[in-house]
Amino acid sequence: SGKARVQWVCGDCGESHSQWWGSCHSCHAVGTLKVFAESEKAGNNSRGFEISENATRSWLQQRAVELHPRRLTDVNKGINPLEWRIPLFGLFGIEVARVLGGGLVPGSLVLVGGDPGVGKSTLLLQIAAMLAEGSDFSKPAPVIYVSGEESIEQIGNRADRMRIGTHELYLYSSTDVEDILEKIQGLSPRALVVDSIQTVYLKGVVGSAGNIQQVKECTSALLRFAKQTNIPVLLIGHVTKTGDIAGPRVLEHIVDVVLYMEGEKYSSYRLLRSVKNRFGSTDELGVFEMSQSGLKAVSNPSEIFLSEQYSDSEVLAGLAVAVIVDGSRSFLIEIQALCSSGSTVKKHFNGIRESRADMIISILMKQAGLKLQDSSIFLNVVSGINLKETAGDLAVAAAICSSFFEFPIPTDVAFIGEIGLGGELRTVPRMDKRVVTVSKLGYKRCIIPKSAEKLLTGLDLEEGLQIVGCRNLKEVINGVF
Ligand code: TYD
Ligand code: MG
Repeated sequence: SGKARVQWVCGDCGESHSQWWGSCHSCHAVGTLKVFAESEKAGNNSRGFEISENATRSWLQQRAVELHPRRLTDVNKGINPLEWRIPLFGLFGIEVARVLGGGLVPGSLVLVGGDPGVGKSTLLLQIAAMLAEGSDFSKPAPVIYVSGEESIEQIGNRADRMRIGTHELYLYSSTDVEDILEKIQGLSPRALVVDSIQTVYLKGVVGSAGNIQQVKECTSALLRFAKQTNIPVLLIGHVTKTGDIAGPRVLEHIVDVVLYMEGEKYSSYRLLRSVKNRFGSTDELGVFEMSQSGLKAVSNPSEIFLSEQYSDSEVLAGLAVAVIVDGSRSFLIEIQALCSSGSTVKKHFNGIRESRADMIISILMKQAGLKLQDSSIFLNVVSGINLKETAGDLAVAAAICSSFFEFPIPTDVAFIGEIGLGGELRTVPRMDKRVVTVSKLGYKRCIIPKSAEKLLTGLDLEEGLQIVGCRNLKEVINGVF
């Protein structure tokens, strides 16, 4: 019968429920379940590749995929397909490959999510052009960039601005998945880019483009296409807060790789982070800088989050440098503090968790004797970075002390360490990595927990770097201020 089946789907994680619940049983998000009716017809489509089977049939004939069970020992002979990757090259390519876990895996479905305007289309157009161009090791090959958001003239203009003139790059504007897969058949592309998943639809699936069911079905169809043809598909997904367009989180468990592009409005740096990767680690971070001609890799990003360097004579009070680790890289970030006395006591923290900042302030008062109770305290992390690591505690405390004592900290001092409730300094993970970064950048003094000193023996550090181990905040204050 054509009776509609009602389902409740979580807008955050995409889990379906047969009835309404206040919170999602899978991801525990509250109030995210939305009802939608799935007709019998759509139910059939959701099983198989019915709609686009015609479109891919010729793919299957061209490249027969073995579809019978195989012995493990046969599978492991020769190259492991999971280890073979389409190479990416140049500084930009290496930066992208780093996040993908070494390169693009054939037949993989990669989702690139991010806020509107962060630069997803630009990034994917650049990747498409690079793949199409090939290198010394791989000949040029067709790559198709399909946009459901822009006309091919608009994409062409963008490519012009970015000085992309790759012969093998094909542009196509369409929102119909069946049409897209049909039209690219003759080209046998090296890769397919779809911009964006929220603008495409599959005929026969209920709802318009962008609704949860469409987004899920289109993604599943593209996944099957990728697996059957071994052509990697790169998918763009907008992160939205309004909820009427299903966000990329709904797709995370369908696709092989999820990358998120991050960036602050007023910063020209863009981070590409892998949050899921069936073919590699998720502990990676790509760093790019925006330019007129697109994204450029930042190969040495340690100092990008520092504010402009002052010469020593004009150093301001209230600044301290912390060393954080993200992915396999370490960065220096600058903490700014302002303590001022006035009639009303205010606190405002930017980029630092409020509870952590409050804790550090209380410890400074109780364990180090700072009379902060009558001060307004403002804290800020430069460059819009969020300080998540406790390794930054000591720099936060140092910045507050610096402002409170109106004593500028020399610009060649860095702070690493977690602060305990007794004011004691605790060691943090990856001490060696952090200290090596500080050393490479020519810093003269690095304040660390006393207990971490032994972790640094044998490190190859610059001669001019003095490592100062301190047991607690009092020792830091006596040593630095
Ligand atoms: P766009 O790629 O369109 O963002 P998204 O697809 O995520 O919505 O980029 C937004 C704007 O920023 C666009 O006008 C182009 C511009 N831009 C640059 O000029 N240079 C760059 O390196 C990037 C990434 C973007
Ligand atoms: Mg876009």
